[in-house]
Amino acid sequence: MAISIRPLHDDFVGDVSGVDISRPLDAESVRILDDAINRYAVLVFHGQSLDDDQLLAFGRTFGSIAPPRNHRAGHRLQHAEIADISNLNVKNELRARDDHRRLDSLGNQLWHSDASFRPISGALSMLHAHVVPPTGGDTLFADLRAAYDELDDDTKVLIDGLVAEHSIFNSRGQLGHTDYTDAERAALPAVRHPLVRVHPGSRRKTLYMGSHASHIIGWPMPEGRLLLRELTEHATQQRFVHTHKWQAGDLVIWDNRCTLHRGARYDDAKYRRDLRRVTTQDLDSASDNPELVAAG
Ligand code: OGA
Ligand code: MN
Repeated sequence: MAISIRPLHDDFVGDVSGVDISRPLDAESVRILDDAINRYAVLVFHGQSLDDDQLLAFGRTFGSIAPPRNHRAGHRLQHAEIADISNLNVKNELRARDDHRRLDSLGNQLWHSDASFRPISGALSMLHAHVVPPTGGDTLFADLRAAYDELDDDTKVLIDGLVAEHSIFNSRGQLGHTDYTDAERAALPAVRHPLVRVHPGSRRKTLYMGSHASHIIGWPMPEGRLLLRELTEHATQQRFVHTHKWQAGDLVIWDNRCTLHRGARYDDAKYRRDLRRVTTQDLDSASDNPELVAAG
């Protein structure tokens, strides 16, 4: 069966059928999916049954995978490269309300771009659903290329060439979660990325910000924070947003270079939610912070 893609929104998001991604893809299928990612930024696949090895292999088809942050508690999953997007602890039980990992993960409910707090930021994320709650826990996506296009001309001129600072501790700090050690903070120093980028696969201009971004380099703090807040409010208006309602077996790919996403609340004291993610590295971003990339 041939791969076909049905748009789910006027500007972005495609629903993909006719491909089994648990098996190695041939070059033609990879080319079709690459083109579709560049066009749609978010691709939705249904009914995919993948174990962790297969998820990792699928991710590697699209680039090198960066491991997620280390958390204090051990890793529930076997592969360090797979981000555990669940509400489960190492014993596969629901996390306690005050579990550090849970409080940290609540930051995923703020609009963000994966790994924008790293010197080499995230390119494509692939999130696969094993278990989903009966209600709540959707994931929302916002189209930053369309949002850029619809800025007024004065704003486009104003933001041209600006650089934003990003830190994981900014997004967590916005929620009042500041319980990180000096060593945890030192391991993830703040980084800088341009606020406007050209998306490489489509050559379209895009915003690049989200909740890890705290302020604008060279601007007074409140002015930069306000600008970032204004841009996020603009980009997350209903017309730029698509909501994905999960079913077990769904896999969603999104391009972090031109979208924001956030999780929606669900009753995590009652329901299990087990999703797993791999994210490729945006190697083009290495030149944004050469000194940090060299330091590893
Ligand atoms: C992620 C993420 C949101 C969600 O996996 O990067 O932000 O809905 N997930 O779990
Ligand atoms: Mn995320």
